Amino acid sequence: MRILVTGGAGYIGSHIVKALGEKNYDVLVIDNLSKGHEKAVIFGKLIVIDLNNKQKLKEIFNQFKPDAVMHFAASIEVGESVVDPMKYYQNNTVNTLNLIKTMVEYKIDKFIFSSTAAIYGNPTKIPITENHPIRPINPYGKSKAFIEEVLEDLDKSYGLKYISLRYFNAAGADPEGRIGESHNPETHLIPLILKTAKGERKSIKIFGTDYPTPDGTCIRDYIHVDDLANAHLLALEYLLNNGKSEVFNCGYGHGYSIREVIDTAKKVTGKNFNVEEADRRKGDPAVLVADNTKLKKKLGWSPKFDDLEFIIKTAWNWELNKKF
Ligand code: UFG
Repeated sequence: MRILVTGGAGYIGSHIVKALGEKNYDVLVIDNLSKGHEKAVIFGKLIVIDLNNKQKLKEIFNQFKPDAVMHFAASIEVGESVVDPMKYYQNNTVNTLNLIKTMVEYKIDKFIFSSTAAIYGNPTKIPITENHPIRPINPYGKSKAFIEEVLEDLDKSYGLKYISLRYFNAAGADPEGRIGESHNPETHLIPLILKTAKGERKSIKIFGTDYPTPDGTCIRDYIHVDDLANAHLLALEYLLNNGKSEVFNCGYGHGYSIREVIDTAKKVTGKNFNVEEADRRKGDPAVLVADNTKLKKKLGWSPKFDDLEFIIKTAWNWELNKKF
């Protein structure tokens, strides 16, 4: 089976490419390398293109003839999306429309979409189920929520089958240390904590200590990136077996506060680094935890790495031995 993977040189995409390669899928990665890394693509072939290049996109569909498309290429920072919304509507909305328009033209009808918990906005109920209202509170979440609506229409009119996977907080690295998280600039909690433990940063700031949570800091559902990759493989197999369109939350169903993540990182690294209490970051909901019942029941997903210590260990190993 031939699988076209956009953004396969990025953090999450590269872990799915690894999972696909290990299952002997024929993988073609397309990535503009604006954030991704050539070395992160450890299976298949990489073509460097931007999704706004419609002509080149058509050539790729013409030559590769994918059976399914998995779409990771996107801008992902909530804060940046508030400062520069056009970047998000161009990269995440317009470019995704280019991609799915090409799919429709070439009659490719299986699509896996990287969606996000950010489409729910401030949750009214925890854990969050897939039928929670879609009320994104920032352009990043809106840019993804709009595509979910478009996909619904394309299914009705053209029979495009899609799985939209709504990620909670992807974390950790390949347990064998081949690939991992390497953002520039880094904004995510766990890699920033580990850079502090390593001595690259003076301290880790906790953004807000007055949230309505037991220790006052935000709670997130951190999911190991390989468990997330496995959810993609199951979603792909489901579509290849002619499953119908679905949306799934991807998380473990329980969360950790920022203080708990910091304490676990101190234990794993053996370093007692500096922690500062800072103001809240704009747009952060207090708690984001997935209800993953649907993913488990419908796709038979069963997580292997639901262990914060293990997640941080793999990320620490990567931080110390980064290859890109
Ligand atoms: N945080 C700090 N200090 C830091 C960095 C982060 O306290 O230096 C806090 C944040 O305020 C937040 C938590 O740690 O409360 C997690 O923050 P991240 O930036 O690691 O992750 P987010 O929850 O903001 O966002 C991630 C992805 C989004 C996705 C979202 C869905 O980056 O793309 O998860 O849950 F939409």
